[in-house]
Amino acid sequence: MTRIKVHTKAPTFFRDCRSFILAVLVAILLFYALWSFTETAWTNLSVSTIFSNTTTDHCTSQPQSLNRTHDPPEPTFYDDPELCYTLDKPIDNWDDKRKSWLKLHPSFADNIQDRILLLTGSQPSPCKSPIGDHLLLRGFKNKADYCRIHGYDIFYSNACFDPKLCNVWAKVAVIRASMVAHPEAEWIWWMDSDAIITDMDFKIPLQRYKEHNLVVPGWPNLVYEKKSWVAVNTGSFLMRNCEWSLEFLDVWASMSPRSPDYKYWSETVMSTLSDKVIPGADEQSSLVYLLLREKKKWGDMIYLENQYYLHGYWVEIVGRLNDIIKKYLDTEAKVPVLRRRVAEVVSESLDGVWEKYLRDAGGFGNSGWRRPFITHFTGCQPCTGKRDPAYKGNACWVAMEKALNFADNQVLRRYGFMHPDLGNGSSVFPVPFDFPADEKEELV
Ligand SMILES: *[C@@H]1O[C@H](CO)[C@@H](O)[C@H](O)[C@H]1NC(C)=O
Ligand SMILES: *[C@@H]1O[C@H](CO)[C@@H](O)[C@H](O)[C@H]1NC(C)=O
Ligand SMILES: *[C@@H]1O[C@H](CO)[C@@H](O)[C@H](O)[C@H]1NC(C)=O
Repeated sequence: MTRIKVHTKAPTFFRDCRSFILAVLVAILLFYALWSFTETAWTNLSVSTIFSNTTTDHCTSQPQSLNRTHDPPEPTFYDDPELCYTLDKPIDNWDDKRKSWLKLHPSFADNIQDRILLLTGSQPSPCKSPIGDHLLLRGFKNKADYCRIHGYDIFYSNACFDPKLCNVWAKVAVIRASMVAHPEAEWIWWMDSDAIITDMDFKIPLQRYKEHNLVVPGWPNLVYEKKSWVAVNTGSFLMRNCEWSLEFLDVWASMSPRSPDYKYWSETVMSTLSDKVIPGADEQSSLVYLLLREKKKWGDMIYLENQYYLHGYWVEIVGRLNDIIKKYLDTEAKVPVLRRRVAEVVSESLDGVWEKYLRDAGGFGNSGWRRPFITHFTGCQPCTGKRDPAYKGNACWVAMEKALNFADNQVLRRYGFMHPDLGNGSSVFPVPFDFPADEKEELV
């Protein structure tokens, strides 16, 4: 067993730390001494007021906090009796309406470009599969953990917002209602309940999508050449909260079971897409159809993301998780700052440091060792239990448990614990100080 010796680095860190504090103290005393020689009001300053003012300045330079009690009486779109949350009626001029609301709620206008509302959900009734509700709960915990770490909001829907869309199409009605409910959110991020975030640190590169309104995992050649129904994946995608998206949702929903033309659309989608065998127009194949047939109208604003796992197929991922853990632990063992304990609320402070080491991680493909952002258990159907017969025995549940614990370890670590065995979510061990400088073997 190779024990990695990194303890020699620790004293360097403390020495650096001590000399830094010393330098700051000297600077402060010098500053104080200089000023106390002058004949200004400054002469009464004490070191403690310098400290308290520094702290104050630091605080006021932080983004303004959201004012959740401020809702002025001026009318907004909420007061318009004609405006509805359902797909029954289009909303005119949504961009202006949203803008007016933001003007009346200025604290929500700051940093709006980065504001995400994560939506997910499941059926209203208990799962048929005995393990289903447990897996749904853990899937929700996984998303709630991610949102807390990154300051995003989350909404879980287990109601059917449209009686005709109580299936894979349910998301379309939930997204529509959420855009109205959350004018302060720039992005609505839909995630299926069986999609799991497996890189808790990864942040969606929103600046990349400045010119786009719908970001969906997808491959252009599979859309435009193969006309495949799996050319995109609607298990995890982002939609900008804007007029364009509302119009798109209306058109999208016009192909769904709520439309009188659903039969026509089912046949059309089936005959257009090359590899679709399950009958009916589902939300994913309808999206591929719209990309194919109405590219001019919608295509420019749709970003097909395949540079990272905005959706990752679990079968390609789960077998690699142990190797990925090993690579991350190796890196942490070598780089003290990466294994330093930090408060959960500032976990993002390490992003920049990690980025440097992940540059060599070989991208996001099969050969790389970067944690996949999202692992999607397509075909597993944890709630109904009606899994794809290709996935034998308990392969789905074992893999889900593994991915959930893989993700949970990234979270639990900030609470001082980890699962020693990805196959067993019940066992945890207290993480020793400076882990994994010495204890790397425990987890691999
Ligand atoms: C520190 O804060 C006090 C009270 O706000 C203020 O009167 C004083 O001028 C500040 N001093 C400095 C150095 O900013
Ligand atoms: C928030 O809004 C309320 C009601 O308008 C107001 O009284 C309060 O001062 C605001 N708080 C902040 C921190 O601006
Ligand atoms: C999982 O861990 C718990 C707690 O340590 C233990 O009691 C249980 O036997 C373990 N289950 C398996 C299948 O190893």
